[in-house]
Amino acid sequence: MAEAPDRYALFGHPVMHSWSPFIHGMFAQQFDHDIQYRLIDATADRFRKAVIDFFVEGGRGINVTVPHKQAAAELVNELTPRAERAGAVNTIYVPDSTTLIGDNTDGAGLAKDLTVNLGLMLHGRRILILGAGGAVRGVLAPLLRQRPSVLHIANRTPARAEDLAGEFADLGKVAASGFASAAAQPWDLIINATSASLTGDVPEFEGSALAPETVCYDMSYGHGDTPFLRWARAHGATMLHKGWGMLVEQAAEAYFLWRGVRPDTRPVLDALTAN
Ligand SMILES: NC(=O)c1ccc[n+]([C@@H]2O[C@H](COP(=O)([O-])OP(=O)(O)OC[C@H]3O[C@@H](n4cnc5c(N)ncnc54)[C@H](OP(=O)(O)O)[C@@H]3O)[C@@H](O)[C@H]2O)c1
Repeated sequence: MAEAPDRYALFGHPVMHSWSPFIHGMFAQQFDHDIQYRLIDATADRFRKAVIDFFVEGGRGINVTVPHKQAAAELVNELTPRAERAGAVNTIYVPDSTTLIGDNTDGAGLAKDLTVNLGLMLHGRRILILGAGGAVRGVLAPLLRQRPSVLHIANRTPARAEDLAGEFADLGKVAASGFASAAAQPWDLIINATSASLTGDVPEFEGSALAPETVCYDMSYGHGDTPFLRWARAHGATMLHKGWGMLVEQAAEAYFLWRGVRPDTRPVLDALTAN
């Protein structure tokens, strides 16, 4: 009898829009691995039980997305240092079938996309990050490791940005504010890590934060410009990037944790951005 495929899944709410099955399917083809990757829509009250059931029934690993990344950090037996720092988990693996380990690959994914795929030098640069949610928690440490001259977090609710800046201040120079006071002069790199694009909104932000050479990166992705990139283009920015690379790189890092091999991300990124 043929062996059943190794089972993986993405847990979130909602998850149906996700490209993760496509990405992990392409990774598996590279190695001739027999895997199944499902999308599991779990509300907050069902998340914990659904994850435990998945592993009890032999599941090999999961990804976790909005809104469960912090709940996932509370559910696992152990956290990797980067997940502990982030207080959020996007990947769970089971090295010995009894221990659930929570990791966070979002930051490594973003850093690889910015520095390798896009070839950006972050050392000494002025970086502004919009948002102070789970995604920002995951990327602050790897961004600070690149030693920007300043990393400024601006958020609609300034207190959340200030809390994060305090939490990560030991790793580098981190400032925080609401949107208005972060737009006094142009930045070298602006990363939109708000979920505003999901509802077609743009963070209420002045165009004075942009110069033509400002690199604008939206963690959101989709066909055509996101609302944030449309806004940036309208204010004269020309270097515009969506979060496809971060998505594929964080997935490759998860695949490595699960299966011990590093997929080639380039063909997957090319396939996702071909149209
Ligand atoms: N490319 C990738 O691989 C990748 C990975 C992770 C996340 N993401 C994307 O990153 C985004 C953020 O994810 P998350 O997990 O951090 O979400 P989250 O924890 O729900 O945080 C959402 C953030 O967006 C802000 N926000 C929401 N609506 C806004 C609006 N209309 N105007 C201004 N700010 C608004 C919130 O501000 P308040 O604090 O004021 O509520 C908060 O800072 C999502 O779009 C997600 O899809 C992409």
